[in-house]
Amino acid sequence: MPIVPASPAMIAKAAALLRDGKLVAFPTETVYGLGGDATNDRAIANIFEAKGRPEFNPLIAHIADMHDLDALVISNETARRLVEQFWPGPLTLVLPKAKECPVSLLASAGLDTLAVRMPAHPVALDLLRAFGGPVAAPSANASGKLSPTSPQHVAESLNDKVDLILDGGQTIVGVESTVLDLTSPKATILRPGGVTQEQLESILGPVRLSVHDETAPKSPGMLSSHYAPHLPLRLNASSAADDEALLCFGPDTHVKGGAMRLNLSAKGDLKEAAANLFSMLRQLDQPPVHRSIFVHRSIAVMPIPRTGLGMAINDRLQRAAAPRILD
Ligand code: TXA
Ligand code: MG
Repeated sequence: MPIVPASPAMIAKAAALLRDGKLVAFPTETVYGLGGDATNDRAIANIFEAKGRPEFNPLIAHIADMHDLDALVISNETARRLVEQFWPGPLTLVLPKAKECPVSLLASAGLDTLAVRMPAHPVALDLLRAFGGPVAAPSANASGKLSPTSPQHVAESLNDKVDLILDGGQTIVGVESTVLDLTSPKATILRPGGVTQEQLESILGPVRLSVHDETAPKSPGMLSSHYAPHLPLRLNASSAADDEALLCFGPDTHVKGGAMRLNLSAKGDLKEAAANLFSMLRQLDQPPVHRSIFVHRSIAVMPIPRTGLGMAINDRLQRAAAPRILD
């Protein structure tokens, strides 16, 4: 599918495609999104089909205008404080749907809540403004696979299933937005992401992190095997075998082994590590057809601190390492 520069003309074209019910991949500060008109059932159905996504998993409505917040959801004081501090930015708020909410029922998977966010990326904001309404956008990858942080990742993953890919280069944050449930008095993090628990707590005081329950997912996207590379992943590795690739964090000269190595951040910077996470996992991961030419058969990952963005990084790594049917 065409990867095009995000020029004003191409953004206008992308907005026209969205109005026509088509799908457009666009950059956000976190990962690339697969966008469709959030009010168009058919466009939303196409998103689910393109991703091969279970239909109970609801989508985030992306907006560029604060006024849209009240059109879509019933806001509250907590939401307003967070929006003031973190929007545009990698924070998604789950709130009760507004009475006249125009978003397709399919997009919210029939829930009476809706996830909303304002992305901090000029191309995303220009596209949303040119389109003039909410855009539903999951990460632009096949369901359960690694999220895309470059337009090439989108093309590899979705190929002919997307009508246009707007090129905004590499994404900056690299992990998805934090999903925060504000539907009950106690704010709950459903998915750790680009805005850290510490940042949220500096505004709200103590914030809960939802306990992941496989049988009754509150955020239905929290399925165990997700972000799955082809190769098995071993976490908290203090050394690597000769048939393992090693994904490092921080100084790694003392760490032994590894047929091949990449370092998420040699200086131990979690922000840099988050930005590199998905693309480095992709580089180390080899689909079955290519396996014979690579020495390694699995990926070992050094420990990542569980603070700040490390929460989101560890969350994605744990999912990537979860048991799955090997292909
Ligand atoms: O950074 C991001 O959030 C990216 C970019 C493209 O904006 N989008 C993204 O979307 O990661 P997606 O669809 O891959 O993940 C959305 C997450 C899922 O875990 C989903 O279950 C949760 O948000 N979610 C959506 N609507 C929800 C709702 N009403 N209640 C609870 N969780 C919800
Ligand atoms: Mg996703």
